[in-house]
Amino acid sequence: MDEQRILEVENSYLAKVYHKFPICVCKGRGALLYDAKGREYIDCMGGYGVSLVGHCHPKVVKAITEQCKRLIACHSSLYNDARAELLERLLKIAPKGLERVFLSNSGAESVECAIKLAVKYTGRNEFISMVRGYHGKTLGALSATWNPKYRKTFKPILIPNFRFVPFGKLDKVEEAISNRTAAVIVEPIQGEGGVHVSPEGFLQGLRKLCDEYDVLLIIDEVQTGFGRTGRMWASEHWRVVPDVMCVAKSMAGGLPMGATLAKGEIMDSLRVGEHTTTFGGNPLTCAAACATIDAIIEERLVERARLLGEFFMKMLLKVQRLRIVREIRGLGLMIGVECRVDIHRVLMGCLERGMIPLYSGRNVIRFLPPLVIGKDQIEKAAQILEDALKEEEQRIKS
Ligand SMILES: Cc1ncc(COP(=O)(O)O)c(C=O)c1O
Repeated sequence: MDEQRILEVENSYLAKVYHKFPICVCKGRGALLYDAKGREYIDCMGGYGVSLVGHCHPKVVKAITEQCKRLIACHSSLYNDARAELLERLLKIAPKGLERVFLSNSGAESVECAIKLAVKYTGRNEFISMVRGYHGKTLGALSATWNPKYRKTFKPILIPNFRFVPFGKLDKVEEAISNRTAAVIVEPIQGEGGVHVSPEGFLQGLRKLCDEYDVLLIIDEVQTGFGRTGRMWASEHWRVVPDVMCVAKSMAGGLPMGATLAKGEIMDSLRVGEHTTTFGGNPLTCAAACATIDAIIEERLVERARLLGEFFMKMLLKVQRLRIVREIRGLGLMIGVECRVDIHRVLMGCLERGMIPLYSGRNVIRFLPPLVIGKDQIEKAAQILEDALKEEEQRIKS
């Protein structure tokens, strides 16, 4: 199919729920993507954080190829070697104390499990979530998600038991806790909400409050996990261990996978049949996830994210001086450039120059590149951003 036809087909037949960038990506390697005409792009979108080990990582490709010749599907009611391998690897790198896992297929699903788990374990049914927090768009996860744009239409069928408090304000959390509160759910760094890093003391304070009031702390590491921020888990920056942790996105090197990790007694409160999913823990994704975790460890990608994150921030210093830039925030290779203007034209300007950025809302340009990105590629991406921002600044002036 030629490029024009691909665009026509997707525009005609795919649900119109995605903000489409006008390029057709057909191939990827490492931190690079190629369109149908073979034009090269530096991928700073990283599939919304999925492509952490890079596109078509050789270890992941090999694991998928070998596994799919042996066994692709195997329901979790049967035992399977790839699944067992993954569970061992995952729990080896998990925060201490998290010792049981529910395997699913996406970030929202990992949150759904966390919500049900909190209700089952505590016998309570209220939650505290954060203003600007994002946890997915299935009905349970959407109930925990703040953005009115996503919630408005569906409000009548959302779970009403979520109270939203300002991110970073411990006194507001404490005020919102009642004897019906089951859990507090929080992202260590709000991604979709605009790349807002937890203020110092906030996560530690949440941990304390949760312990004091016997409430579960659910940390959503769907976007921040597996080394993205320069630590295996972003919550490690603040030395906080959750009761329940949600992961997904990059976990299986690009294949769909989510997982909910919990303390043993919490996960064990769910009885047979109370929460299951057909594809969860299928061997193909498990093999890909094993290879992904191996690559993260063997290639020291967590350390690399920290160092390259610092380098990227340095490269962005020139951008920081531009009038239309309000603030640059982030940790590791999760970076947000907040602008004083609508960023649509800047995003398009980046695309035209060969870099695919991501965004959070209308005024934050977000970077979630693969952790295998090279310094030269970061330099080039920063230069492209600067040129696109300068062009916009010029356009506004004239
Ligand atoms: C923190 C967080 N939680 C949950 C989700 C939902 O994940 P998914 O889109 O895989 O359902 C996302 C997606 O961006 C996320 O960033």
